[in-house]
Amino acid sequence: MEMTDLKFMQGYIRMCNDGWLQGWHERNGGNLTYRMTAKEAEAARPFFGAPREWVEMDVQAKNLAGEFFVTTGSGKYLRNVVLSPAENIGIVEINAAGNGYRIVWGLENGAKPTSEFPTHFLNHSVRKTASGGTNRVIYHCHATNVIALTYLLPLTDRDFTRALWQSATECPVVFPAGVGVVPWMVPGGREIALATSKKMETYDAAVWAQHGLFVSGPDFDTAFGLAHTIEKSAEIYWKVLAGGQGKIRQTITDDDLRAIARDFGVTLNEAFLD
Ligand code: 13P
Ligand code: ZN
Repeated sequence: MEMTDLKFMQGYIRMCNDGWLQGWHERNGGNLTYRMTAKEAEAARPFFGAPREWVEMDVQAKNLAGEFFVTTGSGKYLRNVVLSPAENIGIVEINAAGNGYRIVWGLENGAKPTSEFPTHFLNHSVRKTASGGTNRVIYHCHATNVIALTYLLPLTDRDFTRALWQSATECPVVFPAGVGVVPWMVPGGREIALATSKKMETYDAAVWAQHGLFVSGPDFDTAFGLAHTIEKSAEIYWKVLAGGQGKIRQTITDDDLRAIARDFGVTLNEAFLD
């Protein structure tokens, strides 16, 4: 038995590879974090090495104090995670103030957590609160068709949500709150972390203009499924636009969206309906 035999680690590694197989992780693109349960932290503890030094962050989340996260490494390729987990991913422990971490397993040979750890961290904080503690996964991918859409549509939550809802019938059921859109910003820092986590107070997905997608979820299946659904819908949207040379003969109407919501028992974000 070793760290990577633990069930949550198997799920984590599988998700990194699934994203790679989808073509969302060119080079070191994209990153994944998972907030471990207390039981999982106990099961993992025997495999921890000597903890490394504390690293202070310029973001803080008191509700994440003492938590353990699995994270991908900065500059690491998600396609390599399955081959050598301890070099490409690691586990970090958050300090009591919720503004620092130390590596307790993995990230071997001087690796560091993803450069997007500030965004992951603040997203975990707001989604933990918004979900009553059930949210555990934050995932960033360079989803090709979502990125393409950010060159075509106005960068508003409403425009993106409506386009995605209307591009596949299951979409309003999968993300009834809609998606948030963050304008183009320099990645990897506190500012984009704050802007993204603000969107995550309302939505469980946020689009980064000309960059990619952030999604959240209670488990790997749900988070990956959300990214997959959004990405597929984005692909349908631009294919329809391109195929019809900008003309759409018919679409899912607002009344149709309301009918889906009624029959599937979900509450759609009314701000996005006419
Ligand atoms: P990292 O290699 O630091 O995770 O960065 C990849 C990325 O997608 C930045 O947005
Ligand atoms: Zn990125």
